[in-house]
Amino acid sequence: MIQRYLGNKTSFIDEIIKEIDKLCNKEDYVCDIFSGTLSVSMKLKEKGYKVISNDINRFSYCFGKSHLLNNTIPIIDLKKLGINFNEYENEALNRLNEINTNDEGFKFLKKQKYRIPYINLIILLKYLDNLDSTKLPSSYNNTYFFDYYTEKGSHSKFISQRGSEGRRKFFTPDNGSRIDLYLNKIREWFNNKLLNDDLYFLLLSIISESIEKISNTQGTFHDFPREQYDSRALKELKLRLPKFDNILSKTEGHILGKERDSLDFIKEVPRHKVLYIDPPYNFRQYTSYYFMLNLICDYCEIKDLEKYFNNVKFVRGQNMEKNFISSFCKNSEFISSLKKLIKDADTEWIIMSYFNGRNHKTSNNDKKCILTDLENFFKSELFEKDSLIIKPIERKNYQSYGGHKATKVDELLYIVKKDKNEMV
Ligand SMILES: C[S@@+](CC[C@H](N)C(=O)[O-])C[C@H]1O[C@@H](n2cnc3c(N)ncnc32)[C@H](O)[C@@H]1O
Repeated sequence: MIQRYLGNKTSFIDEIIKEIDKLCNKEDYVCDIFSGTLSVSMKLKEKGYKVISNDINRFSYCFGKSHLLNNTIPIIDLKKLGINFNEYENEALNRLNEINTNDEGFKFLKKQKYRIPYINLIILLKYLDNLDSTKLPSSYNNTYFFDYYTEKGSHSKFISQRGSEGRRKFFTPDNGSRIDLYLNKIREWFNNKLLNDDLYFLLLSIISESIEKISNTQGTFHDFPREQYDSRALKELKLRLPKFDNILSKTEGHILGKERDSLDFIKEVPRHKVLYIDPPYNFRQYTSYYFMLNLICDYCEIKDLEKYFNNVKFVRGQNMEKNFISSFCKNSEFISSLKKLIKDADTEWIIMSYFNGRNHKTSNNDKKCILTDLENFFKSELFEKDSLIIKPIERKNYQSYGGHKATKVDELLYIVKKDKNEMV
C-alpha cells in the first residue's frame, strides 16, 4: 500500500476498528467515504465487514479494484504476454523461497495452492524489471517520465511563479526511464486486450507502490527537493512483491466508487451501519499533491499522450484536466460540506477522524475554534441527543511547514448517532 500519504490511518487503525466493532455485526456494510490509501477499507475487509469505499483519486480506485474487490491471485498466461517461463523460473523460485511466510502479508504462501499463481506473478515482475526498449514496438517507445520528470529530460525545465528556474527531479534519470518501460509495456498489453481487469489493476498498484518508495519527494508530489536527491530516490527502482493476505479475505459484496466526489457518491450508497469519515484536515488538495500516482494509474488509458504532456503546468508538471478542488479542504465550506454528506447518507452511525494539530483554521491561531464548531455541529438536531462521544488518540505530528517542528497532537474520533427523523 501507499505509505507516505497525508492522513494515512495505518498507525491508528486498531483504535478506529475497535470503535466500529462496537457498533457493527460482521457482514454489516461500513462506508469508508474518503478512503485514500485504503488502509481502513482493507482492515474492514479483513475483519469480515462489507465495505463501501470511495475517493476522488484515481490511484485509490486502482487499489480498490486490485485489493478490495479482487479476492484472488490473478491467473497469468505468460505465453500470451510473450514471456518465457523457463528463462525466469529459477530466479523466481529463489525469490519465492527467500520470502518469510511468517511476515505480515505473506502468510498466504504457507498454502501450496497459492504458490503456483504467485510464481507466475514473480516471473511477470522479473520480466518487467529486466525490460529494455528493444522489447517494445516503436509506437510504444515513449519517454515521457524521463523527459518531463527527470533533470536530464528534454521537457523538464520549469520556471516558478517567483521566477526561479530549474529542472524537475521527481526521479533519477535511470528510474524515470524504468517507469517509462513498465508503463509502455502495460499500455501495449492493455491496448491489445491481453490483461484481465484483476491483473491490470494489480500491476498499476504494484508500480504505484514501488514508485512511491523511490520518488524524490518529502512525501507529496506537490514539489521535490530542488538541489539534491532524497536518499530514498537514489535507490534503483524495482517492482515490489505484493502482499496478498488481506486481498484473499473471503468476504464479498464490496462496493467501490470510481473517483467520485463523495458528496455525489453518498446519494447512491445503500444503507450502512457506520459511515467512517476521514476528511482532509486542511487546505491541501489531494489530486494536486498526489497527481503523480494518479498519472501512473491513468497512463495506459490516456488517448493522446503527446497532447496530455504538452499541457502540464506548474513547477511540478501536472496536467490539470482531472484536477479536483474539494470543498472539504476549504475553511469556509468544511462544516457545510460535512452536513450535506451526512444528511444524504443512509447510515445509522458516524465515526469521523480529525485532529487538533494544524487543521482547517490554524493559520490564524484559532485552532480551538474549529474543534468547538465541530462539537456544536455534532450536537445539532441532525444527530441523536447526547449520543456524541469524542475520543482522543495521542500521536506525533510529522508534517513539515517551513520550520514547524514535530509536536504532540491528538487524533480525535467523533462517534455520533444520526437522528432517526433525519434518516434517508
Ligand atoms: C485524510 S485523507 C484519507 C486518508 C485515508 N483514510 C487513509 O488512511 O489513507 C482524505 C481523503 O479525502 C479525499 N477527498 C477529499 N475531498 C474529496 C471529495 N470531495 N470526494 C472524494 N474524496 C475526497 C482525498 O483524496 C484524500 O484521499
